[in-house]
Amino acid sequence: MKKIHLIALIIPLSILMVNCSSARKDKSKYVEAKKLSYETDVKPIIATSCTPCHMPPQGRKEPLENYIHVKENIASIISRVKLPQEDRKFMPPVNKKPALTDAQVALLVQWQQQNMPQ
Ligand code: HEC
Repeated sequence: MKKIHLIALIIPLSILMVNCSSARKDKSKYVEAKKLSYETDVKPIIATSCTPCHMPPQGRKEPLENYIHVKENIASIISRVKLPQEDRKFMPPVNKKPALTDAQVALLVQWQQQNMPQ
């Protein structure tokens, strides 16, 4: 009698577990295809790693302070952050700010591929 109860409990439980894990898989697929935006994804990277040099009023270099500036400069931004760190054109300058992570560089590339949504 007890054994039957246990089985009656285990079957729905295991169905539940299978459902949950497939739901989790769907979610990670969604994250991969995520639509990026300047406001939520790109701006925080620029604000952390490229200030104050590229942000007026202190910044004296090509400003990267807003969507239009970043959009217009995205090709040179990506080429600068992808350089080897010993290249003197590497951005952000070594010893001033930590280099972008691979994930941050990949995000910039993906944003460019998505046609730079605001
Ligand atoms: C410590 C100050 C400093 C920081 C931080 C910095 N830069 Fe720069 N950046 C410069 C200077 C100085 C130049 C001009 C010299 C040169 O071209 O290498 C420059 C030039 C550039 C240029 C070329 C602009 C042009 O007119 O051709 C790009 C693109 C650029 N930086 C992107 C970035 C990005 C992206 C970041 C952040 C990931 C960053 N920089 C962080 C100082 C900085």
